[in-house]
Amino acid sequence: MQRNLAAALLAFVTDSMACTLPTTTLSNTITEGFGLLIQNPAFPVIHDRYMNLAIAGGGDKHLFLSPVPEPAFNMVLGEGVLAQGGIHALIGGERNEPRAIFQPIWSCDTDTDNVVVQLAFQTWQGALFGGLICVRQASGFRGYEFRYSPPANPAYDPTNPCMPVTMVVVSSTSLTLLTTTPTTTSPSTSDSTSSSSTSTSTSTSSPLPYTDMTSKGFSFLGCSPEERRATDGPGRTLNGALYAEDTLTNGKCIDFCVSNGYLYAGSEYARECWCGNTVAPGRVPATTKASLANCSKRCGGDASEYCGGDAWLSLYRKCDVGGACVNAVFT
Ligand SMILES: *[C@@H]1O[C@H](CO)[C@@H](O)[C@H](O)[C@H]1NC(C)=O
Repeated sequence: MQRNLAAALLAFVTDSMACTLPTTTLSNTITEGFGLLIQNPAFPVIHDRYMNLAIAGGGDKHLFLSPVPEPAFNMVLGEGVLAQGGIHALIGGERNEPRAIFQPIWSCDTDTDNVVVQLAFQTWQGALFGGLICVRQASGFRGYEFRYSPPANPAYDPTNPCMPVTMVVVSSTSLTLLTTTPTTTSPSTSDSTSSSSTSTSTSTSSPLPYTDMTSKGFSFLGCSPEERRATDGPGRTLNGALYAEDTLTNGKCIDFCVSNGYLYAGSEYARECWCGNTVAPGRVPATTKASLANCSKRCGGDASEYCGGDAWLSLYRKCDVGGACVNAVFT
């Protein structure tokens, strides 16, 4: 029903980056109600439908595609958790499990080239990064339901594929309400007494000590303790291939791990590159800003990049095909 309105305001988004994306960081709390337009042009049966909610046992709600069962244009996001009027929106029967965490990000609409806001799935709280949100046909009359698909999902069923989706934030008022962080460079027009103010109010947040490698299809997860720093016993944090060179960069390390078939890449001590397909269980990095402090060694091959620290690993993971490629958010 609201497709035209939504199209006019926001239309839809894909992974392509044709438009110029704002550099502001979006808050992971959105207090004004919104809906979600669900997209994946590769699967016309689900493309351009809305997320709806269904009451489930236990006072929570489960996620379905429109028209089943109730429209939901009054959702909010609280620190990355989707909710509707105090009721949490659940994915994949997580009632007794951690909540799914989303991060609003800027994205481009391939049709109109408009800037839109997308909810990028990040993780189940406390779990490792990765995986994606997808929809698949539900049994009975319920249409399509949302699921969480972990990396390399062993339960993948080709006869009922779980189709990866993009979730575009749809507001019935305006897009601007979504830029909730006060880091924009809006000129102040009200104060005529100030002398020709060219005051571009600069962002207050200083850049965090890590190197963004999303352009290479890897998201930064954080700063992981290595064996020597760990409290959970022996073993390397990434236990696959490794190499060292004095002119290491994160790009070289990622290339090396990719060419050897690994999902994770980590740089350490300015010159070491570690790869693996799993992260040792006790070594999942923290997501506080403070936790990045031990990974502030500059890379031997590029002093503008960070390459871990002394027995600390700048940890990256390959982004899922069809999923958003975003770094962990550090608070
Ligand atoms: C940095 O490393 C030291 C040495 O292992 C440790 O004591 C400290 O807690 C670490 N800092 C952070 C923020 O993790």
